[in-house]
Amino acid sequence: MDSPHEAFRRQNLDSIAKLGEDQDIKKKSLDWIAHANSFRYSYHFDWLGRPIIQYPQDVIAMQELIWRIQPTIIIETGIAHGGSLIFSASMLELNAACGGPISARVLGIDIDIREHNKKAILEHPMSRRIEMIEGSSISDDVIRKVRERVNEEDRVLVCLDSNHTHEHVLAELEAYAPLVSVGSYCVVFDTIIEDMPEDMFPERPWGPGDNPKTAVFEYLRSHPEFEIDSTIDHKLQISVAPQGYLHKIR
Ligand SMILES: C[S@@+](CC[C@H](N)C(=O)[O-])C[C@H]1O[C@@H](n2cnc3c(N)ncnc32)[C@H](O)[C@@H]1O
Repeated sequence: MDSPHEAFRRQNLDSIAKLGEDQDIKKKSLDWIAHANSFRYSYHFDWLGRPIIQYPQDVIAMQELIWRIQPTIIIETGIAHGGSLIFSASMLELNAACGGPISARVLGIDIDIREHNKKAILEHPMSRRIEMIEGSSISDDVIRKVRERVNEEDRVLVCLDSNHTHEHVLAELEAYAPLVSVGSYCVVFDTIIEDMPEDMFPERPWGPGDNPKTAVFEYLRSHPEFEIDSTIDHKLQISVAPQGYLHKIR
């Protein structure tokens, strides 16, 4: 017989599966995201004082993954103001405080780390776990530096959140997804672009048809070692990374 805890989990999995089948809530969530985007919704949140360009729902999903995986290194492309780096470092700090890996670290990559952001990140109490590399995430030099920092025994989690064109994200997947440990994830942000109205990104080189989700679909065609964790999509509903939580299963 299930323990009360297992019964609670099983009940949740049932209700999450039902939520995933409900087309009405799916449509309402997409409408909500499209509407919220007109207010720059994703820019409104901080993590430990630094702006984090994420939806709160995705932040919770990342917290669940970082606790479950107990990574020894998190590799993130796209630093911006540093909120996601500080978030990851703080989660690694909590893992360590709870008996997880003591020296786990975060490696952030950005093509343009603005001086004021770099200073604020380096002065933050969580900075001791953070290393930053400046350069394009798909340049040979940066890829080499990242590979040099990953050890055989590392448990690696990867988050891709830089340039959101198909070509760029596909190149990032080719470069960084092989580093992900079996059982861990490669999280591809902003797959939501594919599901948004055609005219939503007039000043951007990406849009429906050319974005992280189209890159994920192309990558998965020849990489059966990854599968989309649809339970995460189903439970979040409101997320910038639908079909972007890629679980490395072998
Ligand atoms: C959406 S922001 C990252 C947000 C951050 N992950 C967070 O959650 O707060 C995207 C960042 O990608 C960076 N970027 C753009 N093109 C890049 C490239 N080719 N290589 C690395 N970073 C790039 C931009 O400079 C920008 O800071």
